[in-house]
Amino acid sequence: MNTTAAPGADSLALIRKGKDYLVPVYRQRELILDRGQGSRLWDVDGREYIDFAAGIAVNALGYGDPEILAALQAQAAKLWHTSNVFYSEPPLRLAEELVAASGFAERVFLCNSGTEANEAAIKLVRRFAAARDRAPERRVILSFEGSFHGRTLAAVTATAQPKYQQGYEPLPGGFRYGAFNDVAALDATLTDDVAAVIVEPIQGEGGVVPATSDFLQALRERCDAVGALLVFDEIQCGMGRTGRLWAHQWHDVKPDVMTIAKALGCGFPIGAMLVNGRTAQTLQFGAHGTTFGGNPLAAAVARVALRRLSAPELLAQVERQSVALQVGLERIGNEHAVFSQVRGQGLMLGAVLAPAYAGRAGELLDHAARNGLLTLQAGADVLRFVPALTIGSDDLDDGLRRLDEAVRQFIQ
Ligand SMILES: Cc1ncc(COP(=O)(O)O)c(C=O)c1O
Repeated sequence: MNTTAAPGADSLALIRKGKDYLVPVYRQRELILDRGQGSRLWDVDGREYIDFAAGIAVNALGYGDPEILAALQAQAAKLWHTSNVFYSEPPLRLAEELVAASGFAERVFLCNSGTEANEAAIKLVRRFAAARDRAPERRVILSFEGSFHGRTLAAVTATAQPKYQQGYEPLPGGFRYGAFNDVAALDATLTDDVAAVIVEPIQGEGGVVPATSDFLQALRERCDAVGALLVFDEIQCGMGRTGRLWAHQWHDVKPDVMTIAKALGCGFPIGAMLVNGRTAQTLQFGAHGTTFGGNPLAAAVARVALRRLSAPELLAQVERQSVALQVGLERIGNEHAVFSQVRGQGLMLGAVLAPAYAGRAGELLDHAARNGLLTLQAGADVLRFVPALTIGSDDLDDGLRRLDEAVRQFIQ
């Protein structure tokens, strides 16, 4: 491993272009990734990294998966794009397969990203309420503190974190925020003016915080009582990440609507909104649409992703590696007194920094990258680990060793 060398001249020139020409909404790490294989990445200077980030919970099958590549290449040689004025085969087959795998849905709307899937869901729940002659003031969408639902204007309004909303006012009306995992507080927030509730079964950006079964079940019961729809945002926690295909399957609760994206395309942009029988006819001809949704290339890749990420052996491997990662993180946490808690489920784990290191997750990530480990934060206090679901024990152990070294340097 050679990770401490400074970036070469070519890298520096490319990084300069990023600083000069990209709208500066991101703060990229100063390295140029070049290629990947499995759970390892290499930059243009030949430095090698273990990847515990997987493109923010996207590259669930790792890099260079031969079956994904073959599906993409075969479709690329045939047909890239048709628009939704015409049918092509891959999105039709994908829609049927998603319905079959969902356990609750009857229909699917295909789009290109997570925020678009949530935008579709927000529009659907409003139309559903409108069709029931609900007065405009009885179309409230309830979401929860710490949530993240995307960056388009309605999705960011559902995102109950002021830092993502500030400066974009006036925000769309009719949104309300409640306390996450607080069943008692629902009496005051989930009232009969609520048209829908949107919730992540595991909050991702908000710090890797799982919803409790009690909370999700209470949401289902109260939604039914007040005539509201229940939307699960499984964009980050779905597609096998928790060891079941859908995170909500751990809780014996079914949604009316579910949004997915990220690992659905394993790196190829795609999103989807799945709707149950009650809501399947809500959006009719002309009510919604997108030029690229259901793109044949994306759908061809997603069909492979869905089949592979639903496989019992893959889901069992997620559970096995989850234990290994959790044990490794706890060991590092205990040895260096650096973490106060390791939480999450499956291969979506968060390590909360001990109070002495509060606010310094970014700094620890810098040390990790210098030691050849790429991982993420979820807020300033939480390290987030969302590796490929196919990660092998060698890569996992090696990654943990690199993290251990990074922590040693960080606490010095
Ligand atoms: C739970 C959740 N919802 C929505 C989104 C938005 O997805 P996208 O970035 O594809 O628009 C994200 C992205 O991180 C997410 O984690």
